[in-house]
Amino acid sequence: MQILDGKIVSQAVKDDLKQQTLDLKAKAGKTPHLAAILVGTDGASETYVASKIKSCEEIGFKSSLQRFQSDIDESTLVEAIEALNRDADVDGILVQLPLPKHFNEEKIINLIAPEKDVDGFHPISLGKLVQGLPTFISATPYGIMLLLKHYNIDTVGKHAVVIGRSNIVGRPMSILLSQNTNPGNCTVTLCHSKTQNLKDICLQADIIVAALGKVSFLTADMVKENAVVIDVGITRVADSSKKSGFALKGDVDFENVAPKCSYITPVPGGVGLMTIAALLMNTFNACVKK
Ligand code: GUN
Repeated sequence: MQILDGKIVSQAVKDDLKQQTLDLKAKAGKTPHLAAILVGTDGASETYVASKIKSCEEIGFKSSLQRFQSDIDESTLVEAIEALNRDADVDGILVQLPLPKHFNEEKIINLIAPEKDVDGFHPISLGKLVQGLPTFISATPYGIMLLLKHYNIDTVGKHAVVIGRSNIVGRPMSILLSQNTNPGNCTVTLCHSKTQNLKDICLQADIIVAALGKVSFLTADMVKENAVVIDVGITRVADSSKKSGFALKGDVDFENVAPKCSYITPVPGGVGLMTIAALLMNTFNACVKK
């Protein structure tokens, strides 16, 4: 069993981007700028946004963060996004999800200019992805593809089972794995909460991507020998032995599943770090294209 180490691979991506950013500045006088919007005080969202901003600083990107109280009205958020759309200095816009309940997330995402949609959530980005056209790819599935590529994992003709059909992870993941690319060329089964015989389907999988947000959902009896297991889950579970008061837990029962796998991602230290690396790549590309 080999660990797919998001720490090593994301650092390699960031080192490369840092150099490319220096080159871009020297040659074209441009520096990528990621603008983040955070509404409310959700603990996990605060942590994610802080990591994204810190990563921008590490590699020489500009970044900015606008914070809003959770009870702001829609027009305030709409105006903030429209101002960022107009701002020629901003390359990428990120509205951290989830938004407070009174917002229609779909409507808000649709306001982001597609050429600045570095999260890849806009229907134009997702539509292009489905057609196999160049676009911003949602950061988590993109990060997973980078991880598979780095470890040279053979995906051609393999059966990949994706558990979870969100627009952010499961659905784009299923499309990417099915494309005529490397990694890619999988036969993909997209499973969800209504799937029957999930265990039997998982047992046929060469590659499993667990992205449903249920702690330790994927157990050893659902995984065949030598499978590749990618764990997208990142749930906070109370743990008094930790300084923060919580531990991060994945969707995979790592302890019992890992011995059966050829490759597996840990939580933390796997997919989460790759998500940030992929977001930075999208932001860099947005800046270059402009
Ligand atoms: N919430 C959970 N994951 C993400 C992400 O990749 N981007 C944004 N904007 N919000 C998220």
